[in-house]
Amino acid sequence: MEPVSYVDVEIQQGIYFLTLNRIEARNALDAKMLAEIEGALDEAEKNQDVKVIVVQGAGGKSFAAGADIKQLQARKPLEALVPGMQGLYKKIENCSKVTIAAVEGYALGGGCELALACDIRIATKNAKFGLPELNLGIIPGAGGTQRLSRIIGKGRALDMILTGKIIDGEEAERIGLVSYYVERDKLKEKIEEVASQVMRKGPVAIQLAKHAVHKGYDLDMETALWIEKLSQAVAFGTEDKQEGTTAFIEKRQAEFQNK
Ligand code: HXC
Repeated sequence: MEPVSYVDVEIQQGIYFLTLNRIEARNALDAKMLAEIEGALDEAEKNQDVKVIVVQGAGGKSFAAGADIKQLQARKPLEALVPGMQGLYKKIENCSKVTIAAVEGYALGGGCELALACDIRIATKNAKFGLPELNLGIIPGAGGTQRLSRIIGKGRALDMILTGKIIDGEEAERIGLVSYYVERDKLKEKIEEVASQVMRKGPVAIQLAKHAVHKGYDLDMETALWIEKLSQAVAFGTEDKQEGTTAFIEKRQAEFQNK
């Protein structure tokens, strides 16, 4: 019998845990799961109590093994032109909250691309990253050709994409694909540590900084620096800026109000 949902959600102290749960198929991303991820994302986006979204895979063996290959097999050329998975991942990148991918086990194809769309990546030692799409006669089509190059550099991205090689968590950290790699039993602790560091910042400043990086990255330096300037002008007008600077001078912890 088909389970009610392929995505579990839970909110714990400002962290929205979005857990992919289709263990029997290594959390492969079929249309149902993608729609559920989008629904959860919309819900998290609207909830003012949510500061950080953590995307993870249930079962410990797989974050996500990519697009559902059985569904993929039936797709026609024009179906690749709809926003689909690429559109969803763009939405994740554009999300106003900070997103963290917590990767245990396989993050392959569209699963790896999902992690690449998040702001911060944490991997366990048993993580396995790869873009093996060429083995199927297709290419990484959910942002992988672009985001991987931007994150680890064109040479390394071409190597991973053209050979389809799979790298572990330690190698992923070495080449900058993830920011942290930890023992499996330390993953929750690391997620909470990173999320709590983020949550101590002012939400307005978080959004401005995140979007200045994402939007500016694809622009010429001049325009990108202008975006940075304008974003800073907005930050200068906030109560949070007054609070942050006052707290420093008064030698106390800042209490940001998202104003
Ligand atoms: C559909 C999948 C699947 C997938 C695994 N399964 N990955 N089903 N789509 N992507 C299913 C298997 O068919 C099998 O179902 C069950 O999950 C367990 O898989 P096994 O292969 O038996 O497990 P294991 O030996 O542990 O190997 C795990 C694995 C391997 C290394 C992750 O399953 C694998 O290589 N999967 C495919 C990875 C891949 O090529 N991803 C890229 C997809 S293309 P049954 O019913 O037999 O138990 C893509 C394109 C994105 O992502 C861009 C599109 C726009």
